[in-house]
Amino acid sequence: MTKKLIYLDHAATTPVDSEVVKAMQPYFLEKYGNPSSIYSLGREAKQALEVAREKAAKILNCQPEQIIFTGSGTESDNQAIIGAALANQARGRHIITSLIEHHAVLHACEFLESQGFEVTYLPVSKEGLVDLTELKNAIRPETILVSLIWANNEIGTVQPISEIAKIIKEKNSETFFHTDACQAAGFFDLDVQELGVDLLTLNGSKIYGPKGTGLLYVKKGLPIASIIHGGAQEGGKRAGTENVPGIIGLVKALELVQNNREEENQRLIGLRDKLIEGLLNIPKVILNGHPTKRLPNNVNVTIADVEGEAMLLHLDQQGICVSTGSACTSGSLEPSHVILALGQSFDLAHGSLRFSLGKANTQEDIDYVLEVFPEIIEKLRRMSPVNLAIN
Ligand SMILES: Cc1ncc(COP(=O)(O)O)c(C=O)c1O
Repeated sequence: MTKKLIYLDHAATTPVDSEVVKAMQPYFLEKYGNPSSIYSLGREAKQALEVAREKAAKILNCQPEQIIFTGSGTESDNQAIIGAALANQARGRHIITSLIEHHAVLHACEFLESQGFEVTYLPVSKEGLVDLTELKNAIRPETILVSLIWANNEIGTVQPISEIAKIIKEKNSETFFHTDACQAAGFFDLDVQELGVDLLTLNGSKIYGPKGTGLLYVKKGLPIASIIHGGAQEGGKRAGTENVPGIIGLVKALELVQNNREEENQRLIGLRDKLIEGLLNIPKVILNGHPTKRLPNNVNVTIADVEGEAMLLHLDQQGICVSTGSACTSGSLEPSHVILALGQSFDLAHGSLRFSLGKANTQEDIDYVLEVFPEIIEKLRRMSPVNLAIN
C-alpha cells in the first residue's frame, strides 16, 4: 500500500494545476518558436506571449507594457529593488524595508548597502505588522524606495498595502513603493491602482504555476535599470529568450487562482482555523503571526521544548510535509529571522513550524494531523532536555 501524502507546504511551492500543464504543453512541442524570430513559428510564439501579457495586465488593472516577465520571484524582487535604486540614485540613496522580508528582498538590500546605499529595516509588532508610525517617520526627502512584503511567507501576516501606499505618498510623493506579492497573489485582488503600488512582484511557484517564472509590474514612467544585460526582450528591460511555456503557464495559473479565490479562501480559512484551534489545545504552543490578518492558508506555531527539524522529520514519517523557519547554515541551525523579529527568544524560535494549506487539502487531512502530531510532540518532549517558560 502506498503511504498517504499530506502536503502542507504550499508556501514553499504548489503542485502545477493540470489546466496549467495543458496550456503550456503546445509551447514545448509544436509552437516552440523563438518570439524574436520573424517567420511564422516565431510570430506565433510572440503573439501568445503578448496575449498572456494582456491577460496578466487585465488582472493587475494595468497596461500590458507595464509587465515584465522574469525568471522567478527572486529575480523580480532584485529587478525592482536594485533596478529602481540604480536608476534613481541621483535623487537619493535611501531605501526602507522591514525585518521580515524574504531573503530575495533582504539580500538585494544588503547588496545595495555594499554599494553605498542606506537601508532602514523597520521592526514589526509581536503579530508581524509593520509599525506605520515608524514607517512614516523613516521616510525622508532622499528616500527613493520602500519595499514591503504583502503577506509574509513564514507567518502569513498580511500588511495593509493600500494604507501603506497612502502614507508613503503623503510623506514623499516621489518615493516609490514595491510590494512582494508572491504569497498574496493567490488570495487577494491584485488591482495595482487600488493598491497604490508602483512595483509588484509575483511568481508562478506559489499559485499552482510553473517554478522558475515571475512577473514584475512597473508603473509607467518609473525609471528602472536592467539587471540582466543582453538582447532587447521585454521592452529592453529583461534580456534573454522568453520562457514562452513558462509565461503561458504563469498567466494561466494566475487566471485560475484569481477566478476561484473568494470561495477557496473561505474554505481554507475554515481548515486553517480548525488546525490552529487543535494545535493551541496542545500545552505550550504559541501561534505566530496575526490571529486574523493572516493568509487563509497559513498556520505557524512555536512548540516549546522541541526542535522544528525533529518534528518535521517525524511528521514526514507519517506522510505529512511541513516546513520550519530554520535554515541550516554552516552546520549550525539559525532560527528564522522572521520569528526572531516578532520578539521570540532564540530557544523558542527553534521550535517553530509552518503548515501551509492548499487546494487539495481536506478536513480529513487536518483531522489526521491533529491525531498524529500531539503524540509526536509528547514523544519528543519526553526526550527533550529543556523546559522553557512561555508567557
Ligand atoms: C515572499 C516571497 N518572495 C520571494 C520568493 C522567491 O520566489 P522564487 O522562489 O520564485 O525565486 C518567495 C518564495 O520562496 C517568497 O515566498
